[in-house]
Amino acid sequence: MSGPNAMNPSESPVSSRRDFLKTTTRTAAGVSVLSGITIPYVHASVNDEVKVALIGCGGRGSGAASNALSVGPPTRLVAMADVQKNRLDSSFDALSSKHPDRMSVSEDAKFIGFDAYKQAVDMLKPGDIAVFATPPAFRWVHYKYAIERGVNIFMEKPLSVDGPTSKRMLELNEEAKKKGLKVAVGLMCRHCRVRGELYNRIQDGAIGDLILARAYRMQAPVASCFSKRRPEDTPELIWQIQRFHSFLWASGGAYSDFFIHNIDEACWMKNDWPVEAQASGGRTDRGDYVDQNFDHYSVEYTWKDGSKFFFEGRNITGCRNEFSTHVHGSKGMAIVSTAGHLPAKSAIFKGQTRDSSATVWRAPSPEPNPYQTEWDDFLDAIRNNKPYNEMERGVKASLVTVMGRMAAHTGQIITYDQMLNCPYEFAPGVDKLTLDGPAPIHEDANGRYPVPLPGVNRDREYAMADVVVPKAPEPPAAPAPAPAPAPAAGAQKS
Ligand SMILES: NC(=O)c1ccc[n+]([C@@H]2O[C@H](COP(=O)([O-])OP(=O)(O)OC[C@H]3O[C@@H](n4cnc5c(N)ncnc54)[C@H](O)[C@@H]3O)[C@@H](O)[C@H]2O)c1
Repeated sequence: MSGPNAMNPSESPVSSRRDFLKTTTRTAAGVSVLSGITIPYVHASVNDEVKVALIGCGGRGSGAASNALSVGPPTRLVAMADVQKNRLDSSFDALSSKHPDRMSVSEDAKFIGFDAYKQAVDMLKPGDIAVFATPPAFRWVHYKYAIERGVNIFMEKPLSVDGPTSKRMLELNEEAKKKGLKVAVGLMCRHCRVRGELYNRIQDGAIGDLILARAYRMQAPVASCFSKRRPEDTPELIWQIQRFHSFLWASGGAYSDFFIHNIDEACWMKNDWPVEAQASGGRTDRGDYVDQNFDHYSVEYTWKDGSKFFFEGRNITGCRNEFSTHVHGSKGMAIVSTAGHLPAKSAIFKGQTRDSSATVWRAPSPEPNPYQTEWDDFLDAIRNNKPYNEMERGVKASLVTVMGRMAAHTGQIITYDQMLNCPYEFAPGVDKLTLDGPAPIHEDANGRYPVPLPGVNRDREYAMADVVVPKAPEPPAAPAPAPAPAPAAGAQKS
């Protein structure tokens, strides 16, 4: 498992009162309510069993499935899919020992390969849930199929890694909305009850106008964000998938995968998405590491009213660590999160310092785990047929994250519209990958991958000539055609 959030997550994301921008009624803390969604034509009633298929059986997928199976009965895991059998097997074992009564995954419901997601989704009926917890490169592929099959979807963050896949996700979502599918996004802090309460207080003016936000995710390197040269006996594609935080095509890199939570919660509190970003970043002495990540990023996001959001990201050992989000207003300031996702320990202060004598409000403790509350809210919407589609704001959070990363990687100001319309797709044809086929990007003779060069590559994040587009498998050769009859005298060639 990579990251801190497997079966027992220690991490912890919304919704809003204005449809993130338009919802007009006050949100119950953390519950998503978006407008413009058709009432679904199929839904599970309170007593129906909701079946779940897990696609991507790693750390978070196993954790999400466990959260799904922990919601009041009846939910049931019926299918699992992965590209690595060992990951599927260990996930199956862990889930079986924790939820023996909720597991019905027979041997012929365990699927391996890049097409395994189709077989797992085919085990579901409309009203059931497909869980997507692969690296994010595959989200649009899996989302497209699940929409065609008419099932509800829970998908992990991030939802997209570049401009074209963000746009594609938004387009696909129009179809999901027409079908009234319930769609949940694993930005679980949006379902954190105390952050939801803080959001409501800020919208009610508790800190005045929000004029500054600052967030930090400064930590030692985690998960697979730093990689040394690939072992010769591991094929390049599977190695890139195992070490997906190291590759921009697979994860959006350390920036997208790790930093999105803090970026999203700051934007939630502001009730807006930034219109542009400028940034710096780089690689310090990275020795023989071959991945594509910078190890530090410093980003200035600008909201459309001119107010600023500063984000500091670092993956370096031996430095001071911080994992928090703060917002400042004309009358006071607030802690959104103190040290990680859970507990948030949100608080509001008079003035601009965290001086306990100036405390206006402090979150009650203990806090419910948002990894569980996001599932409670999702299942409640499915069972009670409430509109529920978190996709649009999940894509916007992913895109704004990509915007900051691209600003740092190119050394340019990048606007929201530029990012959305950026033509460079990291892994075109990711839907055609095969287990024994080529990876989307290749190492050089020294085993290294292209890294961003700010100021050199100004309109793309690295030398995109390195992107390899997989070809669709050749169809079987057709039998030789019978010899054509001789053209009639006087016939024209078209
Ligand atoms: N919400 C959170 O706090 C949180 C925490 C951790 C991870 N995540 C997200 O969950 C996702 C998975 O992260 P993880 O830490 O579980 O990684 P992981 O490597 O532990 O698991 C990913 C699994 O997906 C499988 N996989 C890869 N490509 C696949 C494909 N095309 N089809 C089927 N299976 C495939 C891998 O073999 C692996 O078993 C990422 O998007 C990550 O950002 C979210």
